[in-house]
Amino acid sequence: MNNQLAALEKAAAHAAGEACSELDLQQVRARFLGKKGELTALMKGVGSLPAEQRPIVGALANEVKDRLETLFNSRLEELRAVELQRRLTAERVDVTLPGRRLRRGSRHPITQVTEEIVSIFASLGFGVAEGPEVERDFYNFEALNIPRDHPARDMQDTFYVSDDVVLRTHTSPVQVRTMLNQAPPVRVVAPGTVYRRDSDITHSPMFHQIEGFLVDRRVTFGDLKGMLTTFINEYFGTGIGVRFRPSFFPFTEPSAEVDIQCVICGGGGCRVCKNSGWLEILGSGMIDPEVFKAVGYDPEIYTGFAFGMGIERIAMLKYGVNDLRLFFENDLRFLKQF
Ligand code: FA5
Ligand code: MG
Repeated sequence: MNNQLAALEKAAAHAAGEACSELDLQQVRARFLGKKGELTALMKGVGSLPAEQRPIVGALANEVKDRLETLFNSRLEELRAVELQRRLTAERVDVTLPGRRLRRGSRHPITQVTEEIVSIFASLGFGVAEGPEVERDFYNFEALNIPRDHPARDMQDTFYVSDDVVLRTHTSPVQVRTMLNQAPPVRVVAPGTVYRRDSDITHSPMFHQIEGFLVDRRVTFGDLKGMLTTFINEYFGTGIGVRFRPSFFPFTEPSAEVDIQCVICGGGGCRVCKNSGWLEILGSGMIDPEVFKAVGYDPEIYTGFAFGMGIERIAMLKYGVNDLRLFFENDLRFLKQF
């Protein structure tokens, strides 16, 4: 029995040493000291020994049991310490590591140009208005003196949503909406997105315009020219070539388009300006009396001018961008430059 106890103690000590987790150790403890454990079984056998041996062997068995308890407890401490160390290493935070840089976004160049243009007109006393991109035929065409089946409808290739509803082809319907809601004098700019079935290096199917119009007594074409020249000098500086070119719009009479000298080629001619040396940035004119009639303004009392400029074209000229589609391809290498 003494030999058995010694062998058992040795085996238990060995098993405890091998245990490499708390769970392992629990199993070792159960194997030796549990209710059905090996030492427990041996101790049950003490009762069947001769009477004089019982106390001696019993005492020995108890000593073994105490030593094993102590051993298991200290092994448990050890295993816990190792586990703690492992976690501390695995979960260590290196406070000296540089943080992850959050890249700051920036406003899209078209948004920046829009805001700059609007703020120049705001300094000239213009308020800001907006209108819907999905627009009724009436506001986009009819009230602007472009009746159905009028050949002028072909000037702008239109996306139709239904017979009566279009994606607005220009910001001019905001003129109509504003004048229907507001008595003269008015002085408003209206930036927004517009849509046409157009696509090449200077035309995009989705692009942006800023409409501007001013209605009051005794407004003249001279006022229009002065206002637009002031704007262009303010935005591009006084060095840039500008020309007013006679044109036609059903909603203005007389009408003019404004071209700016092509900055891509310096006016010499290139694919952006289609070898003309000039790029058209806006259409404009004196508001047609027919439009005043449609919105209930008295054309005998009031006159006014209006213009609609292409924001992408202005951005191309301002930053020397040679293809308008770059603005919408969302290549960060391009966008980051602004
Ligand atoms: C108009 O849209 C008129 N509503 C402008 C106007 C307003 C005239 C008020 C008179 C009074 P136009 O179709 O020419 O006109 O377009 C105006 C400007 O938008 C052009 O000069 C050009 O700079 C820009 N533009 C026109 N089509 C495109 C396109 N597909 N992509 C990018 N820019 C365009
Ligand atoms: Mg035009």
